[in-house]
Amino acid sequence: MGTDINRMEKVWNDFCTLVGGGSIPSEREMTLEFELGHAAGTARIAQFLAAKRELDIEIAFILGVLHDYGRIMTGSKKDHARIGSNYVREYLTQSNCFTEDEIEVLVKAVANHSCKDEVGSPFEELIKDADVLDGFLAGRKPKKTESERRLEAVFKEFDLKEMV
Ligand SMILES: [Fe+2]
Repeated sequence: MGTDINRMEKVWNDFCTLVGGGSIPSEREMTLEFELGHAAGTARIAQFLAAKRELDIEIAFILGVLHDYGRIMTGSKKDHARIGSNYVREYLTQSNCFTEDEIEVLVKAVANHSCKDEVGSPFEELIKDADVLDGFLAGRKPKKTESERRLEAVFKEFDLKEMV
């Protein structure tokens, strides 16, 4: 790995290595093709939302990539946010390129990202909205009213015509 690699590239490369390697379960609720597309899509949308909300776009990208880490590691949706937050803490700590404060922000946002009906910290809100928006843009209708509400709020935030 080159020394000039930035943290976004490092996290994305590590993520792809994990997804492409043999260490995760082959029995999965969502395909790995889906997981890769969703991670990349959510990460880019998170950057865009972060720019609008004056949040750090690098942290936003990394959060987008890692938010479903639990589902990557277990293959299951069940409790994937909480489970993922433990894996994310371990990964970020051993990567040695994040401060304790950054790790706390990322871990907390991963842990709570499934609580779409609750309002959390700016990064928690960012990842919930980016998650829902990626699904919508990929052609999946929102299943829950709280997701629909989030979509409507984001469209309003960007002054977009009603899309839901
Ligand atoms: Fe997600």
